[in-house]
Amino acid sequence: MAVVRYLCLLTLALAPSFSYAANLYASTYDGTVNLLTFDEKSHALSLTQSLKACGSMPSWLTWDSANRKLYCTDEDFYSSTASISSLSAASDMRLSVDAKATTPSGGVANTLYGGSDGKSYIAIAHYQSSKVSTFALPLKSSSKPLQELTFAMSAPGPNSARQDASHPHEVLTDPTGSFLLAPDLGADLIRIWSISRNTGALTSCPSLKVTPGTGPRHAAFWSPTPRRAKNGAAAPTNLKLFVANELSNIISSFSVTYPSSGCLSFKKMQELSPFPSNAPAPSGTKVGEIHVKGNYLYTTNRADGTFSGNDSVATWKLSSKGVMRFAGLTEAGGTYPRTFAINAAGTFVAVGDQTTANVAIFARDPGTGELGEKVASLRVGDIGHAESEDGLSSVIWAK
Ligand SMILES: *[C@@H]1O[C@H](CO)[C@@H](O)[C@H](O)[C@H]1NC(C)=O
Repeated sequence: MAVVRYLCLLTLALAPSFSYAANLYASTYDGTVNLLTFDEKSHALSLTQSLKACGSMPSWLTWDSANRKLYCTDEDFYSSTASISSLSAASDMRLSVDAKATTPSGGVANTLYGGSDGKSYIAIAHYQSSKVSTFALPLKSSSKPLQELTFAMSAPGPNSARQDASHPHEVLTDPTGSFLLAPDLGADLIRIWSISRNTGALTSCPSLKVTPGTGPRHAAFWSPTPRRAKNGAAAPTNLKLFVANELSNIISSFSVTYPSSGCLSFKKMQELSPFPSNAPAPSGTKVGEIHVKGNYLYTTNRADGTFSGNDSVATWKLSSKGVMRFAGLTEAGGTYPRTFAINAAGTFVAVGDQTTANVAIFARDPGTGELGEKVASLRVGDIGHAESEDGLSSVIWAK
């Protein structure tokens, strides 16, 4: 008896400890950065920490798992300046603020780039002030921008209300870590710079001009051999850029090549509506984020109301050459899905519904790319108002 018992204990002690606990970070426009815990088995989703941080309008989160840092951009556009915050995660993922530096106003997105690790600098897109700014890391509260690039337009774009000025909406790097791109919703451009890896300096490349009036908001790269953006990686063959256009509600795709002249070259492939039968989006819809996982592409529709007043997520299948085929709409679990993120295993998608201020988690089949039932949903912060800068702003998985 004692021997059996001893053996049982030994087995337990030697069994690999497996945890179903996953972590997410979410920001809200009422000034909080939050740690959520999700049990992948029971599907329990709970708020573990809520921190007043990241200025008055936290808008976008980037997680650096190697250095256990979270970067949060502040969109404040009521003041002449806003901020970027760096937070450290303890071993239990709880956050504490390291530094908060002053930036131009209206920061809506950020990305890490440059250095030997691709994480030595941070670039920020500033929608309201028509700028891209860059900072060296580690961030200090006294940090000043390395570069502050301001974009002017000689005349408004076709959508004069939204295209009154340049409005950079995101910053992202190419898969080799050699170029920075910024979709500019106001100017109908994807702005491009080559990156000096050592100094973090950005040098202008010719922009990709998109169809006038489309209003590019977010973009994502894809290549047939999935890979993470890696500094100094060889240029992938058959590289595609997918763009989510907020004003025309069109998803567009481009073939990307690396000419020897040193910048990027693009060829337009497709322009499709994220609705069945390529039908135009319902009036009032605004396409949101875009992400790639394997040979599947996902985009969100804000304010389309397809699911009894709640909004939708579009799934696209990609051929071996990156040709998009619309595969269907599934529910977003709330309204204004501003943000969403797929976990590393590809088994769950967290959708951040801005106006209903909730994170909804959906099951995902990693084999077929299909999104399944809603397994959890949690309100985070105050409910927002349609078409306002309030509610939930950003959600990401953190590991
Ligand atoms: C719409 O989303 C809200 C917020 O998450 C939820 O409470 C409600 O049940 C959803 N409605 C439908 C029809 O799914």
